Amino acid sequence: MVLSKTASESDVSVHSTFASRYVRTSFPRFKMPENSTPKEAAYQIINDELMLDGNPRLNLASFVTTWMEPECDKLMMASINKNYVDMDEYPVTTELQNRCVNMIAHMFNAPLGESETAVGVGTVGSSEAIMLAGLAFKRRWQNRRRAEGKPCDKPNIVTGANVQVCWEKFANYFEVELKEVKLSEGYYVMDPVKAVELVDENTICVAAILGSTLNGEFEDVKLLNDLLMEKNKQTGWDTPIHVDAASGGFIAPFLYPELEWDFRLPLVKSINVSGHKYGLVYAGIGWVIWRSKEDLPEELIFHINYLGADQPTFTLNFSKGSSQVIAQYYQLIRLGYEGYRNIMENCQENAMVLKEGLVKTGRFNIVSKDNGVPLVAFSLKDNSRHNEFEISDTLKRFGWIVPAYTMPANAQHITVLRVVIREDFSRTLAERLVLDIIKVINYLDALPSSFTAKVKTDDELEEKVKNGTVVKKTAIETQREITDVWKKFVMARKAKVIC
Ligand SMILES: Cc1ncc(COP(=O)(O)O)c(C=O)c1O
Repeated sequence: MVLSKTASESDVSVHSTFASRYVRTSFPRFKMPENSTPKEAAYQIINDELMLDGNPRLNLASFVTTWMEPECDKLMMASINKNYVDMDEYPVTTELQNRCVNMIAHMFNAPLGESETAVGVGTVGSSEAIMLAGLAFKRRWQNRRRAEGKPCDKPNIVTGANVQVCWEKFANYFEVELKEVKLSEGYYVMDPVKAVELVDENTICVAAILGSTLNGEFEDVKLLNDLLMEKNKQTGWDTPIHVDAASGGFIAPFLYPELEWDFRLPLVKSINVSGHKYGLVYAGIGWVIWRSKEDLPEELIFHINYLGADQPTFTLNFSKGSSQVIAQYYQLIRLGYEGYRNIMENCQENAMVLKEGLVKTGRFNIVSKDNGVPLVAFSLKDNSRHNEFEISDTLKRFGWIVPAYTMPANAQHITVLRVVIREDFSRTLAERLVLDIIKVINYLDALPSSFTAKVKTDDELEEKVKNGTVVKKTAIETQREITDVWKKFVMARKAKVIC
């Protein structure tokens, strides 16, 4: 009697997916398989491997939206096969995009008449938006320099050292020198005074961040504007400001409507915002808005007619999905000012619950500010036994994804943990996270100090030889060493999750 047999192709319809031959061998990882696979098996295999990804809802590293209403999910699925760039074929989608641009421009107080159309475009995210805004500044500066008969081969841009990596990409890809204002311990955003000092005749713009990626803090755009106006007056230059409002652009108008950071300030010529962050749309949408037509050089706009009527385009990519644009329009009309305000207030309150819970443990310093992006960035008061990377690693056992990272120049010795509060992070989850962090601390306290065992306490600081003399290492040197060891350890294991 035959007790078992090898599954064959003909078994597919009779055997369960998990008994079929498709799960008995692994798929090639480098070359496309020679033969086809039944759709049920392909689905199951991919689905199962994806189970090993983290849970997006518990991914507290990301600013990007992880939950939308089912009605909007339906609209997005219905338009998933529409190429956004086919404007003549999908005129309604194009119209919805234009409405979004107008609504966001008004939200940013662009100087527009009642029915005047705004200048702006939908992008894949803030990174693309920043590339476009940066290009417009570079081109305007070059045009002006050429007209004055001056050299235009050494453009630079002034930012804080806390800028997101997309600014480094812009500088690198488009050959613009990045002049960074260094940070210092306890001050993790661009200092407007130092930024204006760095400005010279080759500065294409100063970029300020409304909601630093590192600790959520808003930079002082008003002070920057005032100082730069003064410098422009003294020098005869015309250095403008771009505001990277990737996160803050959908927060400040609702939580801090009186705060002047946008087109109310005369030197602010363009602003980017990520629709997929606090604009509350799934990943894949950003916006860049210019103050006026004069701020976007006409020669950067391409006109195509092979899809129908004349269509102006200014994007780095051509084809992309329409779903995100439609979803952004859904959120704008569905929520309105009232809905966005409610959601942002709730996020802010949940951030406070988390912050207070962490403060109560007595173990953490809070590095984020109460006014800014609703997030909590915190570091250990004492990391001589265990550090922030260990907390981040251990929290994963509870399902939480909380990144630990070191600050940029000159505050590299400071390590922080960061929890971004999104719409779908409820009060219950905030309270639960505090409890789990306490459990992690207790667990680590009970362990021998694994990675830091080699490092001595403050009382017995390690000795080193400097110019033949034996000197004790300072606490800060010791802390830097620990951070370096951990940084290498963590970087070797995973990609950076700061977005
Ligand atoms: C301040 C800031 N600018 C730009 C970006 C890049 O945004 P996107 O992911 O939309 O390209 C981020 C991402 O977190 C950010 O925080």
